[in-house]
Order: sequence, then C-alpha cells, then structure tokens
Amino acid sequence: MKVTVVGAGAVGASCAEYIAIKDFASEVVLLDIKEGYAEGKAMDLMQTATLNGFDTKITGSTNDYSKTAGSNICVITSGIPRKPGMTREELIGINAGIVKTVATSLIEHSPNTILIVVSNPMDTMTYLAHKVTGLPKNRIIGMGGALDSARFKYRLAEALDAPLSDVDGMVIGGHSDTGMVPLTRLATRNSVPVSEFISAERLEQVKEDTKVGGATLTKLLGTSAWYAPGAAVSALVQSIACDQKKMFPCSVMLNGEYGLNDICIGAPVLLGKNGIESIVEIKLDDAEKANLQESAIGVRNVNDLLNL
Ligand code: 2OP
Repeated sequence: MKVTVVGAGAVGASCAEYIAIKDFASEVVLLDIKEGYAEGKAMDLMQTATLNGFDTKITGSTNDYSKTAGSNICVITSGIPRKPGMTREELIGINAGIVKTVATSLIEHSPNTILIVVSNPMDTMTYLAHKVTGLPKNRIIGMGGALDSARFKYRLAEALDAPLSDVDGMVIGGHSDTGMVPLTRLATRNSVPVSEFISAERLEQVKEDTKVGGATLTKLLGTSAWYAPGAAVSALVQSIACDQKKMFPCSVMLNGEYGLNDICIGAPVLLGKNGIESIVEIKLDDAEKANLQESAIGVRNVNDLLNL
C-alpha cells in the first residue's frame, strides 16, 4: 500500500506521521515544492520509527511526481492555509491553481489512485478535482466532515462533562463556518440522545462552537490547525487501505442524493478499498434538510468563483 501526501507543511506532515504510526501502509511519499523540505520532514519522521515502532517507509521528494508513481491513495494538502480572520473561501484564488496542477500531476503517475482533497475551500477544491481529472466519483473524497465531527464530539464531551469515548455525533454539509450542519438531534451518549443530558441552549452553543472550530484554532495558533486534520485524513486513508468500510461524513459528488446534484458537499459515506463504497442517505428532519440546502447554496457560490 503506497500513499502519497502532497504538501509537507504541518497538515501533510501530521498526516504522514499518523499514517506511519498506524503501520498499515508499506510506503508514504511526502512531496513539496520547497527544495529539500519534504526530504527533511521524511528523514525526521523516519528517525521516529524505532521509537514509535513502525515499519512504514517515508520518503520525501521536491516536486518530482515520478516518485509518487503507483500510489494507491494520494492526499492533497497543498495550498496556503488560512490566517486569523480569514475564511476558507478567501483562499480560492491561489489554491485552485495549485490543486489543479497537483491533481493532474498525481493522476498522470497514478491513474488508478484514490484522491483525498484537504486543501481549502475544501468542498470547492474537491469539486475542482472532479472536473479536472474526470475520475469516477467513488475515487475523489474531500476531507472535512470527519474533522468537523471530531470537533463536534470534543465540544459535546465538554458540554456533557463526559469522556470522549462516550459520545457520538456527526457533522454534514459544507466545511465552512456557516455551512456545517452538526446533527445535534442524532448525537448520543452511549445511545442516549444528548438532549436528555443538556439543555437546548447548551446544545445550540455546542453547535456554534463546532462550526467555528477551525477559526477558533486559527486565532489561537496564528495559522490553521494540523493535528486533528492530519488524524482525520489518516482515519480515512486507513479505512480505504484496510477496506474497513467505516462511515465518515466526507465531501462527495452528489447526483440526486439529499436532493442535490453536481456538487461536492459533506454527506455520510462508507470508505473501503474502492474509495467511496456507498453514500448513506439518512433521514433528516425538515430543519436539517433546510440547513443542508442552505449550506449547498454557500458551496455553489464558491464553486461559481472557479469559472469552470
Ligand atoms: C480546519 O478546519 C484545515 O480546514 C481545516 O482546521
């Protein structure tokens, strides 16, 4: 199992580290445009192998895509991250050009690969990857909902004063401050709806804190977060590489599901050896449906900026 991670910045390197630590891939190639940077990160990570107990071979490459040839899974993290006060959508001008070049170069060397898009604005970059590569829809996955759901569970556990392993919840919709749809109605503590433990007001606060999860971290860190994004990507990669068929909300090209067409937006999917094995259509109530439709309008407005 060969995995390529493009972009050896904080998100890309964390992603490579988590994949290696889980030890299910034989090889991880880190690629970056900055001379020597990916090689340096790869060497540093390899020097943790005996300490962390993994055999995954991590190599680095300065923009030489021939090194990525034959990758089963490719992750695109490249592009500029957001700065405090910026929205993910403001990155579109620069990141669209980068994602287009990276996606086409990857497919040239690994025509059968499954692509995971992380670069922001993620739903639009996932849509762009579809349009420029023409890959079947099961082979392009946008990483957003898995991260947003992890942040949702963190906020739920905080509000419930419960261990994180007790809570479950999911965020669908666009990966943006206004587009996320945390499904509070379906969130549980050990199968019991969370509404049995906390007030509607507190739950509303959890929802709002979840939606600005990335912005909160960007303000604290001065750049966007990397540990949870890297961990979220590694979970998706593992589900595909090990054919686990786990369910994650991911940005996926919809063709009628949830009443939406020709848009990539967060919806639950099963991830296995073929990438997206299926899209799971859960029954939403009227408010959730309305929130998802509104979120889709926001994603489409950003897609329109691509001028495809
Ligand atoms: C985040 O939400 C990087 O978009 C990513 O942290």
